[in-house]
Amino acid sequence: MGFIVAVDGPAGSGKGTITEILAKKLNLTSIDTGAMYRCVTLAIIRNNIELDNLDKINELLDNINIELIKEDNKQIVKLDGEDVSKEIRENPVNKMVSKVSEIKEIRTKMVELQRKMAETEDVIMEGRDITTVVFPNADVKIYLDAELEARAKRRFVQNQKRNIQCTYEEVLEDMRQRDEIDKNKEIGALKIADDAIVIDSTNLTQKQVVKKIQKLIKKEKKVKKLEPKIYSERPNNTRKKIVRSIVKSFLRGLYKIFYKVEIIGEENKEKAAQNGGFIICANHINYLDAVAVVVFSKEKVRFIAKHDLGRIGILRWLERLFDVIPIKRNTQDLEAMKRCMKALKNNEILAIFPEGTRNGMEKNGKAKNGAAFMAIKTGKQVVPVGISGTFKLFSKVCINYGEPIDMTKYKIKGQEKECQEQATKEIMDNIVMLTNIKN
Ligand code: DC
Repeated sequence: MGFIVAVDGPAGSGKGTITEILAKKLNLTSIDTGAMYRCVTLAIIRNNIELDNLDKINELLDNINIELIKEDNKQIVKLDGEDVSKEIRENPVNKMVSKVSEIKEIRTKMVELQRKMAETEDVIMEGRDITTVVFPNADVKIYLDAELEARAKRRFVQNQKRNIQCTYEEVLEDMRQRDEIDKNKEIGALKIADDAIVIDSTNLTQKQVVKKIQKLIKKEKKVKKLEPKIYSERPNNTRKKIVRSIVKSFLRGLYKIFYKVEIIGEENKEKAAQNGGFIICANHINYLDAVAVVVFSKEKVRFIAKHDLGRIGILRWLERLFDVIPIKRNTQDLEAMKRCMKALKNNEILAIFPEGTRNGMEKNGKAKNGAAFMAIKTGKQVVPVGISGTFKLFSKVCINYGEPIDMTKYKIKGQEKECQEQATKEIMDNIVMLTNIKN
């Protein structure tokens, strides 16, 4: 699997054009999945197949050959060898394509084809369900949006250029109806993935949108190149243990010079340790709070942190020394999740900021369910921690550990999502309580 950029968004949001430009600039293969659904629709029309005749549809799917190819720098769509690029954009197909794309058998086949197309190449793929269904783990996930009227205007101009007869009102109404179907269909509905980056292009020029996405892609490509290095774990040999212990003492000393540190409730960690490993969940004020938790813990604590290219040199060295588990931004990082689960099963102690970012609670951000998920799955306890202080030099920093929370009560089959939400709420409520101490 190569590098994958997934772009979703409603009709007329500019996905197609933007994708084409980016593909050229960054040498990616562009895949317009809407064109694939349009091809199937055209084949259905040509073969006079009723949409409830699944036998005929399955037969068609078994024999259909859809190709998206580049000819003279132009994207050509071929249906069984015939160039249908223009015909698939005309009214008969426009009117029917949403209905066709609701059919499960068709979606399954298209998703399979789309995944195959990205097996050997770096791609930028646009559609409605690319970030959510086809490639939920894509390297870059974009949701491109724009207001309905702006989208209709763009599509109308595009149609005129392609010599497709229509009025603006027709386009607007068609788009309104398609939005309705696209967002509400049972499978493959247009949704914003939790970790997608939303770009509203209503008031942006094409150039501005391209620039924004290009920046994201470039950054992620750099991360991907560095990934093997970031992810490689150094063995926990004696030398590493000695260096870690020296560095820990040194940092603790520095901390004590610059801050008045108070630790409360340390015995709660010991209680949780009776059950093997556990997860420390803390609020996040400043980068120095993670350092405080690690260096003032007798036990080895491994933080889970978003890997950041900005962390260079000594910071990255420290991350490695303390076996920080790097987690990718904006995506479900299965590799990191596996590593965390393995560490917990080995009775290690992990630490995480469920807020996901500094002062997330103040910014009204939604706490992440990762810690709850892992604790419920492994049966390990969560030790909530309230960190308070301003982190101004020579001020007081208080680290207040609370009673361990038993997560087994949240292990209810069929209610996983709700349980994780409730467990996360319990963790966050405890953290808030533990930060409410007088400085
Ligand atoms: O992007 P477009 O307007 O050419 O897409 C045509 C139709 O195909 C649209 O109504 C939604 C549907 N579609 C889909 O259901 N899933 C995709 N991944 C792409 C398009």
